[in-house]
Amino acid sequence: MSDLKGRNAIVTGAAVGLGRSYAQALARNGVNVVGCDVRDEIGTLQAELEAMGVKASGIRADVSVPADVRRTVDEAIATLGHIDLLVSNAGTWLGSVADDDLDKTLSDYDKVVATNLKGVYLFGRAIIPHMLEHGRGGDIVNISTDHVNTCGTPFHVCPKNEQCPWKDAPRPTSGGTIMDLYDAAKWGIHGLTFAWCKALAPKGIRVNAIAMGATDSNMLRGFHNFDPSEEEVATWMRAEDSAQVVVDLLEEGPKGRNGEFINLCVGRHPRLEPELPHVYILKEDAHVIARG
Ligand SMILES: NC(=O)c1ccc[n+]([C@@H]2O[C@H](COP(=O)([O-])OP(=O)(O)OC[C@H]3O[C@@H](n4cnc5c(N)ncnc54)[C@H](O)[C@@H]3O)[C@@H](O)[C@H]2O)c1
Repeated sequence: MSDLKGRNAIVTGAAVGLGRSYAQALARNGVNVVGCDVRDEIGTLQAELEAMGVKASGIRADVSVPADVRRTVDEAIATLGHIDLLVSNAGTWLGSVADDDLDKTLSDYDKVVATNLKGVYLFGRAIIPHMLEHGRGGDIVNISTDHVNTCGTPFHVCPKNEQCPWKDAPRPTSGGTIMDLYDAAKWGIHGLTFAWCKALAPKGIRVNAIAMGATDSNMLRGFHNFDPSEEEVATWMRAEDSAQVVVDLLEEGPKGRNGEFINLCVGRHPRLEPELPHVYILKEDAHVIARG
């Protein structure tokens, strides 16, 4: 059985898609899981995970609403005793371009930044004091996008990846022009991940992010007007493969990597690659002090 057995997790955006897969994969590895979401399907999470032999709960909550975040964390602690793991996955997408008019811009901002950045920020703020207080260390995994860390990044990111379709002509980075706000919100997760990684490493808490590439989900199907071609879908990653990467990352434990944006890019099988050299922070700043 996994080293994770008996640990306690919160997964945000756990009703469908990647979040549901993260919750299922953690439960399969013996982790007790509280999931939250705004969608109705969160109501079926508890029974599904309990059938796997773990404690579970599904809470209807909006990650951008402070009272919902507080309630979710309080209920999770009441149900599970304490929380070791946070997977901040809830996200939303819409198209936005540089010359959008101001009214659309403000309404888009309230939707996209509220969920994709404020939600990660609020959950971190709610859970970090609790992790520090219980003193057992822990893990935070923030779900970002490959637009912040894609195959167009310097080749040192995956030098031995012979299957990389972009290796001879790196793909331009940063996700193109049709989702500037989504990308900006996800870039903001860099700031939180690096700052928290440095602040919390001495306390035995790791903070990493997954730079997700195109993965079959409600969100990506919506991006294709729910009518993607079979050829298109065949190029996408599967949520369960990404979930296994999260499990492998968490199983590394306190001596594992810290402050990394783990790149899962289309064109190769998603798996936890060897740790990368740090680009943005000093390695010693990311050194986690293992808790007893
Ligand atoms: N699927 C992809 O190709 C892809 C690529 C890059 C990054 N991502 C990121 O992965 C994460 C999961 O995406 P997905 O593809 O599974 O999307 P999805 O739309 O299938 O699932 C997202 C879940 O988050 C929930 N959610 C949205 N806003 C919320 C809020 N304010 N409060 C609580 N829950 C909320 C949704 O209800 C949904 O259940 C997101 O952060 C997304 O940006 C996905």
